[in-house]
Amino acid sequence: MGQGFGRDYEQGEGVNTTCNPFIHEVDGERRHVLRCTTAAVALLMGSHTLTASAAAPAKGKPLGFTSVPTSSADALVVPPEYDAQVLYRWGDATGIAGAAAPAFSADASNSWQEQLLQSGMHHDGMEYFPLDKNPRHGLLAINHEYTDDGLLHSDGMKTWTADKVRKSQAAHGVSVIEVVERAGVWRVMPNSRYARRITGNTPMQFSGPAAGHALLKTSADPEGMRPLGTLNNCAAGQTPWGTFLTCEENWNGYFSAQNKPNPDEARYGLRAKGFGYRWHEFDERFDVAKHPNEPHRFGWVVEIDPQDPTQTPIKRTALGRIKHEGATTTLSRDGRAVVYMGDDERFEYIYKFVSRDKVKPGGYRANKDILDHGTLYVARFDAQGYGRWLPLVHGEGGLNAASGFASQADVVVKCRQAADVVGATKMDRPEWVAVHPNTGEVFVTLTNNSSRGKDGRMADAANPRNDNIMGHIIRWREGKSRQGDAVSRLDGDASATEFRWMHFALAGDPNADKAEYRGTIKGDMYGSPDGLQFDASGLLWIQTDISTSAMHKGAYKGIGNNMMLCADPATGETKRFLTGPAGCEITGVSFTPDRRAVFINIQHPGETASERSDPAQPKAVSHWPDGPAGGRPRSATVVIRRKDGGIVGT
Ligand code: FEO
Ligand code: CA
Ligand code: CA
Repeated sequence: MGQGFGRDYEQGEGVNTTCNPFIHEVDGERRHVLRCTTAAVALLMGSHTLTASAAAPAKGKPLGFTSVPTSSADALVVPPEYDAQVLYRWGDATGIAGAAAPAFSADASNSWQEQLLQSGMHHDGMEYFPLDKNPRHGLLAINHEYTDDGLLHSDGMKTWTADKVRKSQAAHGVSVIEVVERAGVWRVMPNSRYARRITGNTPMQFSGPAAGHALLKTSADPEGMRPLGTLNNCAAGQTPWGTFLTCEENWNGYFSAQNKPNPDEARYGLRAKGFGYRWHEFDERFDVAKHPNEPHRFGWVVEIDPQDPTQTPIKRTALGRIKHEGATTTLSRDGRAVVYMGDDERFEYIYKFVSRDKVKPGGYRANKDILDHGTLYVARFDAQGYGRWLPLVHGEGGLNAASGFASQADVVVKCRQAADVVGATKMDRPEWVAVHPNTGEVFVTLTNNSSRGKDGRMADAANPRNDNIMGHIIRWREGKSRQGDAVSRLDGDASATEFRWMHFALAGDPNADKAEYRGTIKGDMYGSPDGLQFDASGLLWIQTDISTSAMHKGAYKGIGNNMMLCADPATGETKRFLTGPAGCEITGVSFTPDRRAVFINIQHPGETASERSDPAQPKAVSHWPDGPAGGRPRSATVVIRRKDGGIVGT
């Protein structure tokens, strides 16, 4: 965008200038049908998985709902058989026990102290944790990815003060809220003993191989053990032991670096003035010249126990420091934790972590350090549909002092550089990862990459289109992979180091002028897939994040506002389930165990092309959800149910 505004990674060229290989052949014969057998991941002992399948009555025809048309309306549209209820908007009280519950000021005049007790802005990844036998009473852990400071303050960024920086930091992070349904109506419980806000300033801990390493030490924390806050919390994950994993994505944008960042800083996109948040003007922690190690304290997966509001969130360094999109956890056949993670930037990589130890019964208490010991891998996609996980282990694959890695701490802090060394495959912006509940197959959204095909960075087997403005979804199955083996013979063990992959869909509009924008979707069209989640029955839910600058233009003209779709992975059939209001992204998808309700997030309704609103016209694009009488658009969590109380997705 050039003005230094907003999340300009959408327009960024990517910072991966390494010369590890691209795959230059596109294999036309790789489209085998992956046969979905159940049982491969029968060992899955995730609490949500067990409760979900036990409670799944599965009446109604999958994909039986009426598909909704594309839309440019400033409205949330769901199928006629469904209704949608707005549950938790930016500025709504979080409901923290013993604290005030300040009301939202429609003119954005709430103080930063009030913002600490209210929902943050720009809701993103979210997980539902049932609390008891009632599937419709639970906790929602919700990421607040970033802020539009044009909407956050009454006069936007016209004046700039320390209090505005504090309010912006308080609107980032995570909410934990307690929710319950009574007589078909959901509400946020006031005065909840679970409710909490985690922000850009909440005290946290490091654990794992980089904890206490010199690269994490600062003048405020000479031990390198106690970072402050989490930022740009994008997608998320729920562990089988009941914790929430929140992921730090475009954290580089909050820092102001020198005009000439060093190569390690440049590899993570640090630069002068960042994305224009201007925090460094009043909080020198974000001035890289003064605190060069502070950027090393972001880019991690953070583990939060939603049931314990006094828990100190833990940054798990064994999972690597990247621009973490999400952290999707499953179990290997022998019961170890496996976490899949995307690094969302053009030409970045897909990672997985396999724990050393098996998951034990007994919840978080019994699994407190399981994410501290294990092996981190990065994916290489070869032609003919073969793939391999490459270990990021100090002393292996050229990761040694000569290449700049003196220890495993160096490997995880400089994770991108380590992945460059071992020869990972550069992907078209890896976003969410979803694991099929029965087959263990892994699906990943690759949202788009219009730089593919430029500067010699050509299409390859896994990223098959140059000028990939529409994005695609890739799928694979893990296990020992001998040439000629049918995919169905792979055992689907998530700890395997080999896999066979294929595309689930190339996104696009079948009516587009150019062939490369048309895609291969079987059913309703979409572009820029981002959010991705399986429900317990194995239906795949796809959410889109078409950037505001691309929406309704060019090849995106017919695709309309961002949306959520539902697909049957066995047949590929895809139906549009909802469309969002003007200028929003659809994200955050989590189901109650009985699948009678789905929670989603509407992020940044009313976003302008510059991604920062004009405070003089806050409703220029949208007035959702408060309507014309409201003061400004507000990101919000929404709960969607079938009107007859039936299963969502039927
Ligand atoms: Fe925050 Fe990659 O989306
Ligand atoms: Ca995302
Ligand atoms: Ca996105």
